[in-house]
Amino acid sequence: LPILFAALIFGYLLGSIPFGLLITRAAGLGDVRSIGSGNIGATNVLRTGNRKLAALTLLLDALKGTAAVLLARLYAPETALLAGFGAFLGHLFPIWLGFKGGKGVATYLGVLIGLAWQGALVFAVVWLLIAYLTRYSSLAALIAAIGVPVALYVLGLRDIAILFAIMSVIVFIKHHANISRLLAGTESRIGAKG
Ligand code: G3P
Repeated sequence: LPILFAALIFGYLLGSIPFGLLITRAAGLGDVRSIGSGNIGATNVLRTGNRKLAALTLLLDALKGTAAVLLARLYAPETALLAGFGAFLGHLFPIWLGFKGGKGVATYLGVLIGLAWQGALVFAVVWLLIAYLTRYSSLAALIAAIGVPVALYVLGLRDIAILFAIMSVIVFIKHHANISRLLAGTESRIGAKG
């Protein structure tokens, strides 16, 4: 049990690094939480107008999830899922930001890359398709989050499917404001300001 708990904490600490906030601050763009949706994720960093910083935020927020899984697997393979879950929770509830973190989409993807690349492929295809068709980042993430646990289950990866079903529920809860805006037709589209 101690090793599982250690993996969860290790993942949490990695996941709690708020890259979007750190990157925009370092670039002199101020606090990303004061613009757009107020989120610290790549979608909101994109609303600063800087695509490169948004891409970097996406990359690093995903990478911390992948790193948590791979490093945990290196030391104790049985802890990989918990370390990934920890990273996801760390991104959502970072102790450094009073537990007010991001919505978890990039880190969800990063953990998925580490645990089941086929699932990550499903996520990427669905996300890109929906984002291309609607230009809603949130809607793309929500639909991808439905597809991933289903795909993992169909692939026979039951334990990982259960983990991602739980993470998808949390992603939906974290997107409650986005869901309200989508239903009201007021959600901001990728490429639009605000
Ligand atoms: O990944 C987060 C995205 O789904 C929504 O971001 O800033 O529009 O709330 P945002």
